[in-house]
Amino acid sequence: MTTAAVPRHVAIIMDGNGRWAQERGLPRLEGHRAGAKTVRDITTYCRELGVRYLTLYAFSSENWGRPETEVSGLMSLLQDYLKDERTTLLKNQIELCTIGATDKLPLVVRALLAAVKEATRGLDGMRLTLALSYGSRDEIVRAVRAIATDVKRGALAVDDIGPEHLEAHLDSAGTPDPDLLIRTSGEMRISNFMLWQIAYTELYVTPIAWPDFTRARLDEALADYQRRQRRFGLTGAQVAPAGNARGRP
Ligand code: IPE
Ligand code: IPE
Ligand code: MG
Repeated sequence: MTTAAVPRHVAIIMDGNGRWAQERGLPRLEGHRAGAKTVRDITTYCRELGVRYLTLYAFSSENWGRPETEVSGLMSLLQDYLKDERTTLLKNQIELCTIGATDKLPLVVRALLAAVKEATRGLDGMRLTLALSYGSRDEIVRAVRAIATDVKRGALAVDDIGPEHLEAHLDSAGTPDPDLLIRTSGEMRISNFMLWQIAYTELYVTPIAWPDFTRARLDEALADYQRRQRRFGLTGAQVAPAGNARGRP
């Protein structure tokens, strides 16, 4: 794979942990534990490949409604992950960021997150963004509230509101839109993930469950991406002038 063709921003809906475990007669939490291993491996691999931004959907605003034991198990796995990964992130120059209503997370998780974010701030090997307690509708509503507040205090005229204002108030401000969105475990839906940001993102759904998503599977997804022609509403000829047959980024 040539570095030039690697997507700048890869986002992943890491789905299928629970089914992976159930198929093996294991408790769902064992699927999440296996999934955490995949997170470590895929993060390191993306860094090696030269991906600049990796966003992982780890816990949705709707996931709070799962049984209490599953939610607390996930929070405890998140704590372990943050404690264990700090050194690896630093070694690989990876900056940790989050999107989502992280104020809803337990205090101990928030404290660990703050510490790792602080320790990795400004590292420029890759930005790893974890979507935690994340819901795209909630993120958009919070952005709209912030814009309305600017209008109310006279800092912004209604007629001047543009996409850039919304973008500036989203949790993802400062990170370019994803180029490629991968969903594991086969569901053909977005599940409230980055609705604004994926307007022109290439989608890739694989039946493979997240715990089984290996480096080779990521290679397959990237190879598929490289065969796409991104047209952004234009014609094929416009985006692929002579010499650039596929109009790839
Ligand atoms: C994704 O796996 C992880 C989270 C949503 C936290 P799931 O737990 O949704 O696994 P399935 O979809 O039930 O198999
Ligand atoms: C999406 O998966 C959320 C995460 C991967 C964290 P879900 O399992 O929650 O989505 P649905 O319920 O199948 O749409
Ligand atoms: Mg699921």
